[in-house]
Amino acid sequence: MEEKRFGHSQVYAYELGLGTNAVGGHNLFPNLDDETGKKIVRAALDSGINLLDTAYAYGLGRSEELIGEVLKDYDRARVVVATKAAHDKDGSFNNTPEFLTNAVEESLKRLQTDYLDIFYIHFPDETTPKAEAVGALHELKLAGKIRAVGVSNFSLDQLKDANQHGHIDVVEENYSLLHREAEKDLFPYLKQQGISFVPYFPLSSGLLTGKYALDTKFAADDRRLKNPNFQGERYKEIVRTVDSLKSLAKANDATIAQLLLAWYMKNPNVTVVIPGAKQPEQVLDNAKAMDVRLSNDDYALIDQAFKF
Ligand SMILES: NC(=O)c1ccc[n+]([C@@H]2O[C@H](COP(=O)([O-])OP(=O)(O)OC[C@H]3O[C@@H](n4cnc5c(N)ncnc54)[C@H](OP(=O)(O)O)[C@@H]3O)[C@@H](O)[C@H]2O)c1
Repeated sequence: MEEKRFGHSQVYAYELGLGTNAVGGHNLFPNLDDETGKKIVRAALDSGINLLDTAYAYGLGRSEELIGEVLKDYDRARVVVATKAAHDKDGSFNNTPEFLTNAVEESLKRLQTDYLDIFYIHFPDETTPKAEAVGALHELKLAGKIRAVGVSNFSLDQLKDANQHGHIDVVEENYSLLHREAEKDLFPYLKQQGISFVPYFPLSSGLLTGKYALDTKFAADDRRLKNPNFQGERYKEIVRTVDSLKSLAKANDATIAQLLLAWYMKNPNVTVVIPGAKQPEQVLDNAKAMDVRLSNDDYALIDQAFKF
């Protein structure tokens, strides 16, 4: 399998990576223990996945620390480590050059490494000039501390402002078969600028794995119920659409999750897809999507099925 290049950088990764917001992410998912987190990372690296997407915000550094512990048992040069920062101590976003430079140093320590393959500004702040923030990352790239420059959760206008000197290699945004705004204006800009794209929430927090039914009962305090995709008629339409793809999945010798992950891998706008996981078994299952090669017709069929 060929590796994909990130923007103008020398970073390359296979088209399926691992999202690690549940690894050490005690602030996001309180019931996950560190050992399971490490097993999730090992499962990914042992099944041929070579990109790990983490952030300071996942467990306030804990995700990076656990990944750092696991990385000691692997060839660092073969793993693409992507991390992000912007959350200041008081919870506000900070993109000042001082903050970002310090955040990179802190991430390097937690990950026990001397370079980051990709560093993203996790969220824009309201005051730092965007080109100044990205300029600081460009300097860190020249210094060899990071190998590729990324931004996440920037509007298109903020992105254009941030990329005025052409320093951005990769953008990470919410994009899935159920959330397709990026197709209108963002993707044409990224293509024109040679910027890579990593979508987050590709499985729509599990909804696109086919494990939910029309009569699935969620506990009243289940955080998924806050997500509009899990509510009312929209939920039903999504479940019916996912169910309608079962025979196509079977014909491709795939589960629904593998079929839809293969759709992202064939999508010309997507560089690497990074499904998250709460159990190592889910990682092993998702990694098999790398064996699924969709025909153009099947790709178009899935593409159309979710245009509602
Ligand atoms: N840049 C940003 O601001 C940002 C924001 C959000 C996420 N991210 C990144 O994007 C990654 C992906 O997002 P995400 O993990 O939140 O959502 P996701 O990839 O859409 O969904 C992952 C969830 O789906 C379920 N799942 C995964 N594989 C499965 C399988 N084979 N069978 C059944 N269920 C399965 C698991 O949850 P359950 O077991 O609970 O169902 C898993 O935690 C994150 O890990 C993170 O690295 C970035």
